[in-house]
Amino acid sequence: MNDWSRAVSQRPAEDLGAIGTITGNRGLQIEEKLIFEQDSPGRCGVDLTEPAPFQPRLGGLERRGPIGLPGLSEPQVVRHFTRLSQKNYAIDSGLYPLGSCTMKHNPRLNEKLARLPGFADIHPLQPPSTVTGALMLIDTVAHWLKTLTGMPAIALSPGAGAHGELCGIMSIRAAIEARGEQRSRVLVPESAHGTNPATAAACGYTVDPVPTDPRGRVDLKSLKARLGTDVAALMLTNPNTCGLFENDILEIAAAVHAVGASFYCDGANFNAIVGRVRPADLGIDCMHLNLHKTFSTPHGGGGPGSGPVALAAELAPYAPLPWLVHGADGLELVEHRGGAAENAIGRLKGFHGQMGMFVRALAYMMSHGADGLRQAAEDAVLNGNYLRVQLEGELSLSFPGPCMHEVLFDDGFLKDTGVTTLDFAKALIDEGYHPMTMYFPLIVHGAMLIEPTETESKASLDEFAEVVKALAAAARSGDNGRFRAAPRLTPRRRLDETTAARNPVLRWRRQA
Ligand SMILES: Cc1ncc(COP(=O)(O)O)c(C=O)c1O
Repeated sequence: MNDWSRAVSQRPAEDLGAIGTITGNRGLQIEEKLIFEQDSPGRCGVDLTEPAPFQPRLGGLERRGPIGLPGLSEPQVVRHFTRLSQKNYAIDSGLYPLGSCTMKHNPRLNEKLARLPGFADIHPLQPPSTVTGALMLIDTVAHWLKTLTGMPAIALSPGAGAHGELCGIMSIRAAIEARGEQRSRVLVPESAHGTNPATAAACGYTVDPVPTDPRGRVDLKSLKARLGTDVAALMLTNPNTCGLFENDILEIAAAVHAVGASFYCDGANFNAIVGRVRPADLGIDCMHLNLHKTFSTPHGGGGPGSGPVALAAELAPYAPLPWLVHGADGLELVEHRGGAAENAIGRLKGFHGQMGMFVRALAYMMSHGADGLRQAAEDAVLNGNYLRVQLEGELSLSFPGPCMHEVLFDDGFLKDTGVTTLDFAKALIDEGYHPMTMYFPLIVHGAMLIEPTETESKASLDEFAEVVKALAAAARSGDNGRFRAAPRLTPRRRLDETTAARNPVLRWRRQA
């Protein structure tokens, strides 16, 4: 009998949650041991013949002992990784209400096109003359992004939103230096994503926080009071991280420009306004776009991301290399400083950026068309507001009135219940939902930021809303046990988060 049919758990009985089983398995959810714990020394997935005798050429540096990989058969390896993949809750499994970190449906068409050998198998060191199709694709992506933002230049190479911010603030800094000016402060609203102040600080600027007004928008008076000729830029997110449109944006842009500063927009939430608003018309000088949020490329997980940056004409000369330009003989790559690219800030990434993401984003843009992109933005906003209306009677809405693509609640409704935002989120896991974003933005207490995205149906939003409402009612009725014990039905129970943060065990070691 094969002994790898089940990876039997050694978990103690008290760790089994509500229903104990002999094996530690739960229904068809198999409890998984680490691959090293499944090791059978000497077992191997392939039969290799003994190598013919050979003359060592490493001068005594040859490995003498085993390499330390676990011995496993092929079925064991397949089952291990299949079971691990089944433990991962994903946007393909169900509604994923993370606000700000949008988990957007990745259409299969995009994946199919990204795997076309003509795109997937090319090498970044191939001579440009052999990859003209890929260059055309990059140029077409740039064309779409320029059209949608209204900005004349696009830097495509940044590998994520945060990397795009770095690109943008470095370009702004280069422009300031080229003018021979000295500017030391960057204004960042208190509600901003942490990457904004981090970027400004990494570029050597002092971060000056701007308070939020009672409407959840930038406090215009405080912003104006902070503006001066030592301000390099304002970094504003619009729609902001409270899920609200900054409706004073034209006045903000005028005030920023009046002191000679640049207006940087964190465009991570462009998915709520794409096709409806062109950032250039709002007075924005520089803005990154998260392809994973607006154009449906896969998000995070350490995988390749893409955060192109749209630049106004004044900042375009500082865009990072390489540049793709229309030359006499068609598309040409500018790889080094010189000529029009004399002031480029240099390279931010190897080669041209994440080609696979460009293919996916273009597939999304072209299959939707301009009207389809606009529809996706409108549906995202509709879904956000649908949930707002469904839930505002039960949860505490942080700022009144319509929202954009995401809706922000705080923990006011949990007051005196003994239940925290964290408990509430863990209870959602037991109900089969990934939690919403918790404790961000920081400007409200116990934040719960929900973004349903445009692909969720009314039925799926209703189901989610019913569960959230039922949990809110349970919290108010004093059913604290349910929350404190949550999650009860997951392969692992709640971690001691303090110990996990203070004393992380990051490496498995074989027990002696
Ligand atoms: C408002 C905002 N700004 C910046 C970022 C950073 O983007 P990335 O995670 O791609 O670095 C995010 C991430 O989701 C975001 O929500």
